[in-house]
Amino acid sequence: MIALTNVSKVVTSGAEQLTILQPLDLSIPQGQFVSIIGPSGSGKTTLLGLIAGLDAPTTGSIKLDDKDITTMSEDDLADLRGKLVGFIFQSFHLIPSLTAYENILTPMEIMGVSKAGEKAQALLDEVGLHDRGHHYPSQLSGGEKQRVAIARAFANDPQILLADEPTGNLDSKNGEHIFELLLKFNRERRTTLVLVTHDHQLAGMAGRKVSFRDGRIVEDVLLNSTPENVNVQKSFVA
Ligand SMILES: Nc1ncnc2c1ncn2[C@@H]1O[C@H](COP(=O)(O)OP(=O)(O)OP(=O)(O)O)[C@@H](O)[C@H]1O
Ligand SMILES: [Mg+2]
Repeated sequence: MIALTNVSKVVTSGAEQLTILQPLDLSIPQGQFVSIIGPSGSGKTTLLGLIAGLDAPTTGSIKLDDKDITTMSEDDLADLRGKLVGFIFQSFHLIPSLTAYENILTPMEIMGVSKAGEKAQALLDEVGLHDRGHHYPSQLSGGEKQRVAIARAFANDPQILLADEPTGNLDSKNGEHIFELLLKFNRERRTTLVLVTHDHQLAGMAGRKVSFRDGRIVEDVLLNSTPENVNVQKSFVA
């Protein structure tokens, strides 16, 4: 469960105070797939950064699994983030001097995961890159790089996956493949998936769509597309 209460973000730019997120409440149950959509500059990336604990809000509290990350020490926060959260970016963020396999393996080794080598290979297989583990990022296409980034994000089996326009740099066919892979992890592992996208069609395939404008939530709707949400809506009727 992700729970934001009265969360806002104000930044100081020169003499000016700029409110980039107006105070907002948002709660996302475990396993939900929610898409975040809105024009450029509406606060989507800011929101993900706050949920990941990479940035601190100006007001409010952010709870992940009932733990308030806004009052935690840096060390505890890093520890919780390592256990609970995976992050995927538009620009992949792979380490160029490491192979695909090493990009997945290294964070696991740092965290002291047992059988890290076997797990890294299994993740490569799962994202369809069985034979590409020895290739460096420069030898991979955009879609392949994003697959490696997804495998790395799932190395710690996170409860929450935050994806910031993960298909933004890909053509529509590769974008669709990446989207399907994220959906598969969401369904099979019940990973909460928070997906920022500019693509209305992709956003409409989520279980819930939250629209931002000027740092505010302007719409928050449940969609019918995933089985768990169909159940939620039925239980409202019953
Ligand atoms: N550290 C900062 N200092 C000043 N302004 C900032 C800072 N971080 C973000 N902003 C501004 O806050 C607004 C929201 O930024 P954010 O990156 O969250 O938008 P976004 O919805 O992700 O946009 P895009 O779709 O272009 O990625 C933008 O106007 C941005 O310029
Ligand atoms: Mg952004």
